[in-house]
Amino acid sequence: MPATLIDGKATAARMTAEIAEDAAAFQHATGIVPHLVAVLVGDDPASAVYVRNKQRACEKAGLKSTLHRLPAETTEIQLLELVEQLNADAAVHGILVQLPLPKHIREQVILDAVIPGKDVDCFHPHNVGLLVQGRPRFLPCTPAGCQRLLAEYKIETAGAQAVVLGRSEIVGKPMAMLLIQRGAVADATVTICHSRTRELASIVRQADILIAAIGKARFVTADMVKPGAVVIDVGINREGDKLVGDVDFEPVSQVASAITPVPGGVGPMTIATLLRNTLTAAQLTVG
Ligand code: GUN
Repeated sequence: MPATLIDGKATAARMTAEIAEDAAAFQHATGIVPHLVAVLVGDDPASAVYVRNKQRACEKAGLKSTLHRLPAETTEIQLLELVEQLNADAAVHGILVQLPLPKHIREQVILDAVIPGKDVDCFHPHNVGLLVQGRPRFLPCTPAGCQRLLAEYKIETAGAQAVVLGRSEIVGKPMAMLLIQRGAVADATVTICHSRTRELASIVRQADILIAAIGKARFVTADMVKPGAVVIDVGINREGDKLVGDVDFEPVSQVASAITPVPGGVGPMTIATLLRNTLTAAQLTVG
């Protein structure tokens, strides 16, 4: 396999160790242990696994974490009441409402209710606005995790053609925002492609850096990848009991110069960024 394997698991472990050090220094100075509260509604097994991984990571970094598990029948009002209670609780620094929510609850209403200072997912319009203006309060977890991988592996982004495949609020849009910003691990020329893009394969083929976040198993095939491109695979799709990304890994790794695996690529980096945001949220409370 000619491509370098971009090891998200190891990079995230290093990041978590850095955060643990910073959290310990913060606690020493202020007596405050940063506290993340996760809210899980319903019994989607994948979401339960993600939330458990986030809690375990908190433990590793010396952060406090609490889980509120609510039944699938929870009403929008009940969930809003919990969010309001967490907003008002000075002992809670970060609030994470795990998505997807059951269909009868409007996600936008709930996510908008989380006060910006505790919005460690960076979903609130206020935080998204700051990000777009290049002065983020929190970092969007998955995109910032991808950016950190590019930094760790010393991928040249300035002037590079970056193609973001997918236009979601969680990954595609904020990923593009990070890569077009001025500065380190940015300054790229960014194209966003999506399900309605014409000549999608030919645009993807121009990418020096390809971020695949389209949510379709093995969507990116080897013929869509420019030789030597760097491929970051954000996808997590189930094929039986196997997890596969949005990239057809084996053949693409014969063409790319570097590639993330699934699992063990972007996933752990998302969690590490969440921990960093939780520490930032606690730090912001002491000015
Ligand atoms: N579900 C899938 N990804 C995410 C994420 O980054 N944050 C939240 N809250 N839910 C998710």
